[in-house]
Amino acid sequence: MSKVKIRKAVIPAAGLGSRFLPATKAIPKEMIPIIDVPMIQYIVEEAVRSGIEDIILITARHKEAIENHFDLNYELEDSLDKRQKDELAQVSREIGRMCNLISIRQKVPSGLGHAVLCAAPVIGNEPFAVLLADDLIDSKVPCTRQLIDIFEEEAASVVGVMEVSRNDVSKYGIVGGKMVNTRLMQVDRLVEKPLAAEAPSRWAIPGRYVLSPTIFDCLRQTQPDRANEIQLTDGLQLLAKREKLFAYQFEGTRYDTGDRLGFIDATLAFALKRPALASEVKALMRRHLGDE
Ligand code: G1P
Repeated sequence: MSKVKIRKAVIPAAGLGSRFLPATKAIPKEMIPIIDVPMIQYIVEEAVRSGIEDIILITARHKEAIENHFDLNYELEDSLDKRQKDELAQVSREIGRMCNLISIRQKVPSGLGHAVLCAAPVIGNEPFAVLLADDLIDSKVPCTRQLIDIFEEEAASVVGVMEVSRNDVSKYGIVGGKMVNTRLMQVDRLVEKPLAAEAPSRWAIPGRYVLSPTIFDCLRQTQPDRANEIQLTDGLQLLAKREKLFAYQFEGTRYDTGDRLGFIDATLAFALKRPALASEVKALMRRHLGDE
């Protein structure tokens, strides 16, 4: 398994985005921009910078804007060319050529595990990455690349983790197991959104996975939860019984862009990282805070 190159990534994007209504009434939540780049583009860029070639987008009705975004737009690019807006034309073309996007419809909202299982016919018998579009991770080495490196070293599946407070364990899939070193754990238990008292650790999975194709078999055997959804975390618990599974504490900052405050946090952080915006954004912030 270690010699297999990881070329495919699954990005589930079938959710209704109800936490961002009314913005998501007519546009997919994945297309809401952090400054001027749609959230999903940051995720696709992370995958591409990690060596991924094929993106399998798990989608639903009313999500066509995502497919259009990663396509060429001749009319727009031609018009930008004619107006000598070369840089913008190039930006648009680069997004269109960034990856090979394959979309599959998840026809019923049956959970994250079910969404990943929808990709099985395209993935076949290869290991692959999963990136959740609500989790934006800013890091020098892309988070998915860090996980692929562990996958190659250990020849086993790996989930990215970050340490969270006791109060926050109930928001995430939580792992438990034996520490290999300060950043790496061999996982033997996973619990989806446990109560603080029942969490096996404070290591939470913020939506990054590199998985062996055995996960598909595990997901087929996974029982739906009380909400009648098949959870990826429950499928991973079965995987940990059949094969080795690791959790790796990646380096980087994660933003929960599916949450209003996390979205504002990411917007400010990314604006301050842009040389053309940083000083004016700081001045705006000072003005709003009443220091000027
Ligand atoms: C999902 C997963 C959970 C994971 C989280 C990361 O939950 O089920 O295990 O920790 O994403 O964002 P959701 O936030 O979609 O309810």
